[in-house]
Amino acid sequence: RPRVLSGIQPTADSFHLGNYLGALRQWVEMQETHDSYYMVVDLHALTVEWDPELLRRRTRVAAAQLFAIGLDPEKCTVFVQSHVREHTELAWILTCLTGMGEASRMTQYKDKSAKQEFVGVGLFTYPILQAADILLYQADQVPVGADQKQHLELTRDLAQRFNHRFGETFRLPQPYILKEVEKITDLQEPTAKMSKSSSSPQGILDLLDEPGPLRKKIMRAVTDTGTEIRADEENKPGITNLLRILSALTKTPIPELEKRYEGQGYGTFKKDVAEAVIETFTPIRERTQRLLADEAELDKLLAIGAERARAVAQETMEQVRERVGFLPIP
Ligand code: TYM
Repeated sequence: RPRVLSGIQPTADSFHLGNYLGALRQWVEMQETHDSYYMVVDLHALTVEWDPELLRRRTRVAAAQLFAIGLDPEKCTVFVQSHVREHTELAWILTCLTGMGEASRMTQYKDKSAKQEFVGVGLFTYPILQAADILLYQADQVPVGADQKQHLELTRDLAQRFNHRFGETFRLPQPYILKEVEKITDLQEPTAKMSKSSSSPQGILDLLDEPGPLRKKIMRAVTDTGTEIRADEENKPGITNLLRILSALTKTPIPELEKRYEGQGYGTFKKDVAEAVIETFTPIRERTQRLLADEAELDKLLAIGAERARAVAQETMEQVRERVGFLPIP
């Protein structure tokens, strides 16, 4: 079976609809057909200011949400990045193979560093750690949203460079990005990506939100002043985003939705979007809460995942260590 790897940061109290549609839903699907590895990337979470207790809490909440969306420990491996020490080890080696120029071209660094007071070197080298995450597992496919495209290109470049210099070692990974959901936008600012770091919580639909707030945020979503419900990225970004969301959640093609809502107002349409979101999120929120009620059980699931992940990562690292010229560990 082809191998899949992906990761998500525990930098907020909840995942959001962008994470869910852009990536997580594909994770659940791919566990049926791929040898799948999914992780909570707590090492990456250190690239912004953090509080240790909060990080520990959010890492567990993140893991609980992954199981709650339907990742099944019998079908895939769910683990926490810092439980597998090989990630930092390979990241260092790849750091030494990355040019300053190519690291400087990463656009997420420019965006993120502009928003922070303290900018650590880790924020700059972040994509190299991500490359290590992917290459360690010899992933064929990496299901992500559009914002990760550039990081995947760097990953492929580094894999090729390493293979060329030290012999065939890494498999070249492909991004797996679904066009229709690759960039879910902010409800208050429908041309900007829905993001944990966005300025207003009103624009973000959190997986763990209660029905009340979800409904309110969707009913107040920014739209144009027209009345037509049709997909038009240029002139109707807000309505287009809502159409994409409803289409993805109800598995109904957008043209069919456009026809269904012909002659109806934005109100009816938004109400249906809200109901679809609530219907999807409610069982996930309830399962997350149940999983969090038994921390010992959750940690046990993560221990199983860590063990399986380590086996794969260690095998890759053994080869890497030998190829780059390290002495065997005595
Ligand atoms: P993160 O934690 O920011 O986001 C997790 C996943 O959600 C996707 N995503 C979106 N998709 C569509 N619309 C949106 N508005 C939206 N917002 C987020 C992201 O593209 C991502 O797939 N660097 C990664 C984490 C990472 C990783 C990895 C991913 C670390 N190592 C290895 C893949 C493989 C990140 O910060 O994702």
